[in-house]
Amino acid sequence: MLRIGMLTSGGDCQALNAAMRGVVKALYHKTDEIEIYGFKEGYKGLMYSNFDMLTSRDFSGILTVGGTILGTSRQPFKLMRVPDENGLDKVEAMKHTYHKLNLNCLVILGGNGTHKTANMLREEGLNVITLPKTIDNDLWGTDMTFGFQSAVDIATNTIDCIHTTATSHSRVFIVEVMGHKVGWVTLHAGIAGGADIILLPEIPYDPDVVADAIKRRAKAGKRFTILAVAEGAISKKDAKLSKKEYREKMEKKKYPSVAYKVAEEIQSRCDQEVRVTVPGHTQRGGSPVPYDRVLATRLGAAAAELIWNKEFGYMVAIRNGNITKVPLQEVAGKLKVVDPKADIIKEAKRTGISFGDEKMKD
Ligand code: F6P
Repeated sequence: MLRIGMLTSGGDCQALNAAMRGVVKALYHKTDEIEIYGFKEGYKGLMYSNFDMLTSRDFSGILTVGGTILGTSRQPFKLMRVPDENGLDKVEAMKHTYHKLNLNCLVILGGNGTHKTANMLREEGLNVITLPKTIDNDLWGTDMTFGFQSAVDIATNTIDCIHTTATSHSRVFIVEVMGHKVGWVTLHAGIAGGADIILLPEIPYDPDVVADAIKRRAKAGKRFTILAVAEGAISKKDAKLSKKEYREKMEKKKYPSVAYKVAEEIQSRCDQEVRVTVPGHTQRGGSPVPYDRVLATRLGAAAAELIWNKEFGYMVAIRNGNITKVPLQEVAGKLKVVDPKADIIKEAKRTGISFGDEKMKD
């Protein structure tokens, strides 16, 4: 009998269900002798032994369904070694559940924080296989995470919709895109949506350069300007501050988010009206796009193969179009950021997109 524990942890995204379905379908293809323990709300379910016994039927009909049938929660890695309010040792509790249920393996779907804990559980002697999920696409070791393309699709759609109203009103529109500390979703949705200015955390901007790009467009007879701004975008000036100083500055100014700061900076330099649109968590919602369904299914099938072959301690990944495995210790704690010198940035600049870092040539 194969006993598999499964959990989804951290912020949800599209194709989590598709990935779990892929794992389960591929395992059932090999044997019917499987017990699946679905831990509820991420690591919490493992800590408090809160699970449902699932069968292949539970994974039918969920390929296109967003969210996660297991539920999820954020359990910060830095608090894993801190006992809970009742003094429970969380790591020991997770190990206890694993051994009590006599599991052969834990299948963990998550992003950066989740992978740090997954690697810790591996170091503690548990058999772990992970799958890379997050809309942010910031997981080191894989070219793409599932959820990313679906989020790009939604953010692009927002920019598309903004285009028409921006034109009607001759306005400057800022669309704030999710992505935590990195700019992957913003970069791709910005290019796909035809944004004129893209601001990323990896390329600190100068408000004067941003204003200059807007004025140039107006002078050239363009009725509107659209900015795709990453939620982690930062000005060159603020990038020099410590994290604490920056947080205090943002709190003092009472900006709900960075887009409002950028709006104020633009409004004080330009005549055109400025508006902010924040699609927020819609970017994590709804049905996965076909690309994510395919990627999640491939990764799920690959995870099943590793389990079957008793090859534990890996994250399944996609590199150069091929599905592969990466040791968890190589993944944990590393962030995959946009390289400001990457070809995609140069190509975007060549098409006239400003990243707010350097003035356009006359
Ligand atoms: O990691 C996914 C993500 O959506 C980020 O893009 C965003 O910064 C964060 O999660 C939002 O977290 P929460 O759902 O806890 O508000």
